[in-house]
Amino acid sequence: MVGKDPLSDVLWADFQKMDLREKARYLNHDGRPFHVLLAQQFDRHMLDELGTLATRIRRTAKSKSGMRFLAELLDHKRAMLTFSQPSTRTFLSFYAACQILGLKIAEVRDTSTSSEMKGESPEDSVRTFSSYFDLLIMRTPKSGFTEKTAYALSNTERPVPIINAGSGKDQHPTQALLDIYTLQRSFERVGGIEGKNIVFVGDLGRGRTVRSLAYLLTHYPGVKQYFVAPRKLQIGQDILDQLDQSGMQYEVCEDFAQVLPEADAIYMTRIQDEWDTEPGESQRIDTSQYHFKAEHLRQIRIHTAIMHPLPRREEIESAVDHDPRAVYWRQVRNGMWIRAALIATIFGREGEIRHYYDMNLE
Ligand code: CP
Repeated sequence: MVGKDPLSDVLWADFQKMDLREKARYLNHDGRPFHVLLAQQFDRHMLDELGTLATRIRRTAKSKSGMRFLAELLDHKRAMLTFSQPSTRTFLSFYAACQILGLKIAEVRDTSTSSEMKGESPEDSVRTFSSYFDLLIMRTPKSGFTEKTAYALSNTERPVPIINAGSGKDQHPTQALLDIYTLQRSFERVGGIEGKNIVFVGDLGRGRTVRSLAYLLTHYPGVKQYFVAPRKLQIGQDILDQLDQSGMQYEVCEDFAQVLPEADAIYMTRIQDEWDTEPGESQRIDTSQYHFKAEHLRQIRIHTAIMHPLPRREEIESAVDHDPRAVYWRQVRNGMWIRAALIATIFGREGEIRHYYDMNLE
């Protein structure tokens, strides 16, 4: 890091009162992400740069010599993955991204094996991790915990970056980055993301991936967002307020079949019943019309991207998987490349990757 950590220059009480865009200014250092906690940290220029870098890494990694080059970039750094909520994709794609860049990795996935069982606070646990590692990647069920931790670490003698790998019901910024990268790639030949209709379907009230992506889409002029869900699972007013502030078009509706022909991307989501406040709460909501079936393939456009952050249950029929418009397995792999691009950027290695790419692959 060059210069003073901005988070060490503000009182916690004042930081807590800030809106997300204001907070974001304290998390980036010298125009690059340091702690990665919020989608609000990324402007359009950063999204374009990250996508380009992810593609350079992806193409460089196709050869053994390219893999060797990448694996030396951060082989003097160590990363800690601490996931106290279940994860397959985010955990493994960060794990693989660290391996690509040569970082050495340790993990805690089960807090019953840590000294938290002896009464240590999660805050002290994280401070301990930061004593041994250069990067913390954290998934937690507690909204706001990554912010608290980033603030605490930025006010120690060894401030190490924290990446939010999913926090409570509020944010999943790196999922939104991989979703944007997938949209960039899907719409490469049809004019980019600008002006496209993006349809979100399912549990939009409790799905953190939608909340982060809806914000990032405000950087693309002409995009219209559709939020299609049963009333009890609809998108939060705070997200709609953000879209209003950004002058974005959106529509909130319940009829899935009606919006299908309009869609350039359909972002299906799972019912997040782990957040139920009483037993059986989600089961009492009829979500059967919010499933993408093989018969719907006839109703969508030739370039429509069918997306899902995964894991899925019955909201996309497996018969859809073989259609070229189903891009959810590509999303999974894109997650590894964009996370590698993000880590390389945090540590300021993007210039070396660009130079290697220009010399060897352009
Ligand atoms: N999309 C996503 O966050 O998947 P995991 O929960 O498997 O990490």
